[in-house]
Amino acid sequence: MSTDLKDRIERRINQGLLGQWYAAAKSVQVKPGRPHGVTILGRNLVLWRDQAGKVQCLEDFCPHRGAKLSRGEVHEGNIACRYHGVILDGTGTILQVPAMPECALEGRRAIESFTVHEARDCVFVYMPNAERPTAPPFQEPAEFLDAEWEGFVCMSRWGCNYRYALDNLADPMHGCYLHAQSFTLAYGAKQDLMKLDRTDDGFIVSRVQQQGENFDWTHMVVTEPQTYCRLDIPYPNGAGPGSVFRIIGFTTPIDETSCYVFFWRMRKLTGLARQSWRFLYRAALEERHWHVLEQDREMLEDMPDDARMREMLYQHDIGVSRMRQMLTRAAKAQIAAEDAAAARAAV
Ligand code: FES
Ligand SMILES: [Fe+2]
Repeated sequence: MSTDLKDRIERRINQGLLGQWYAAAKSVQVKPGRPHGVTILGRNLVLWRDQAGKVQCLEDFCPHRGAKLSRGEVHEGNIACRYHGVILDGTGTILQVPAMPECALEGRRAIESFTVHEARDCVFVYMPNAERPTAPPFQEPAEFLDAEWEGFVCMSRWGCNYRYALDNLADPMHGCYLHAQSFTLAYGAKQDLMKLDRTDDGFIVSRVQQQGENFDWTHMVVTEPQTYCRLDIPYPNGAGPGSVFRIIGFTTPIDETSCYVFFWRMRKLTGLARQSWRFLYRAALEERHWHVLEQDREMLEDMPDDARMREMLYQHDIGVSRMRQMLTRAAKAQIAAEDAAAARAAV
């Protein structure tokens, strides 16, 4: 492989793979009547709700002179730029230039629009590329589709490349060290071996000896249109009935040095147990989970951006290595597809 291609692959991974669905905002951030600006994969986007409540997404750039549409307002389900009032619909088409009757810009599809999917209190946006220009269906994690799984989404901005967040998730062994002082995460042996099992949709990295005791495994789902993980954490005694505490995690690059993490904290519950857990979670547990997340954030933010150039991995890093391998393979495939599309277009 040429150095140039290697650099492109590395850069693509660092910026974030395209042709994937990304969590872009919590649903509550996109309030009716109010545009919401967000940056993902280095692109500025504006989200808003149309008259049916469906989230629309455009590049956050007014085609007139470039003002941010997220500074504008929602007008009958469309978005109006605050600067001179130009109105666009969710396809990026200019509907009206109110300051200039019969302006030639009207009817022009002027800016890029993005496909949106809303699930479990979160807005996901598809970032297209030449390999997959049209959004494939969002593949809901099984827990999202099962109403018995009750959960809360939380979102945080971390000042590190998203790859650090993925590496951290593919590394269950850090749990009993980094989080040693944090309630149930302190349980379990400090020594183990790790094993890796490939699945149809990615892989599971788990501790060999310790099972069902703590943060013992992670299932990394790395499919074509999306990457996320699931893991279980034992539930503290006395915190109510029900199943384990499951985390579904998505990461979204903002740029090369920051990312969003979205975590769903879920339990499988019905009836009264469900009600009481909702209450308990908000009242007592949520803060403790934030505390754990902060430990991860602080550790990762303090690592140099190029730490991987000087790492000395050992057996426990098989999940980290596999994750990187899969990202490299995906980046390589999409760059090849983009080059092929560019070559076709040039003929
Ligand atoms: S820049 Fe948006 S209307 Fe002029
Ligand atoms: Fe952690």
